[in-house]
Amino acid sequence: MTERIVVIGASGQLGFDLMRAFADLGPIGVDHATVDIERIDTISGMIARFKPTLVINTAAFHNVEHCEIHTDRAFAVNSVAIDSLAAQCEVSGVPLVHISTDYVFDGLASEAYAEEAPVNPINVYGISKLAGELLIRQRTERHFIVRTSGLYGLRGSSTKGHTFIQRMLAQAYAGQKLAVVDDMTFSPSFTLHVAKAIRDIVERGTFGTFHVTNTGQCTWYEFAAEIFRQAGLSPDMTPVTTEAFPSQARRPKFSPLRNAAIARLGLPPLPGWKEGIADYLAERVSSPGLRRSAM
Ligand SMILES: NC(=O)c1ccc[n+]([C@@H]2O[C@H](COP(=O)([O-])OP(=O)(O)OC[C@H]3O[C@@H](n4cnc5c(N)ncnc54)[C@H](OP(=O)(O)O)[C@@H]3O)[C@@H](O)[C@H]2O)c1
Repeated sequence: MTERIVVIGASGQLGFDLMRAFADLGPIGVDHATVDIERIDTISGMIARFKPTLVINTAAFHNVEHCEIHTDRAFAVNSVAIDSLAAQCEVSGVPLVHISTDYVFDGLASEAYAEEAPVNPINVYGISKLAGELLIRQRTERHFIVRTSGLYGLRGSSTKGHTFIQRMLAQAYAGQKLAVVDDMTFSPSFTLHVAKAIRDIVERGTFGTFHVTNTGQCTWYEFAAEIFRQAGLSPDMTPVTTEAFPSQARRPKFSPLRNAAIARLGLPPLPGWKEGIADYLAERVSSPGLRRSAM
């Protein structure tokens, strides 16, 4: 097993749980101030200093709305910087784990997407992340591209500052009426489950592209309903269509991921999406100090 693991974006929600998943190996977490993937000197400096045997990159420009407006930033971070990172890793002989997204798909399928399914992103974020994937594959064979979906974790997203679950619970406790989208289906995923699965994949040592999500699928409305059921709450909640929330970006209406490559490696499936919620809620109760923002 590799032993000098650097996690880029370690203060983000997935980065935080990757640090936990690899904790016994003493991973080195680097934040944005230390390594900016847009600056080659900070990447090469990191490699020279830590001599990693594995680099895991979680950094991205992933606010879907902002990507539509700031296309240049989306491609700078999600594509061009990833190209440089992959090139630096290749030159140094370091395998790269990179996190990608269900948004590389158009959402027109009727069953969950396997890794080999044709890609066809429908917004700038998805296009820029797909370009990142393509550039990595061209630069280095030693890659693990991990597509995941609908992340939530104890730290909360560094861009949004909260998770969907936190927002739902806060609105319910405040007695607000809720309108939740019921025509968009995905695989919500708890970052600790995803991080542990990434470790399992890396330990198998087979490079390639992997779908890593909690098992199963639901709409955002069904996701919210299950959150409230587990939290013992019954807020006033109405199912609505995506048109209720006008947006700059088109989003795939159906983007569950089938974790086929994990199964081919003989690894166990990730816990179901309802178990993801249960484990997340249990951790929130037992470790309130670890949250980025309290509800
Ligand atoms: N969130 C989701 O639902 C979701 C779904 C599918 C795929 N993904 C992918 O999963 C990955 C992790 O997502 P996340 O939710 O954990 O994100 P996050 O909480 O926003 O964490 C991203 C981390 O990367 C850092 N970062 C941003 N730009 C950077 C740069 N140029 N150089 C170095 N570090 C930089 C951020 O630091 P600062 O905050 O200090 O800038 C932050 O620590 C991303 O690649 C994303 O595309 C996310």
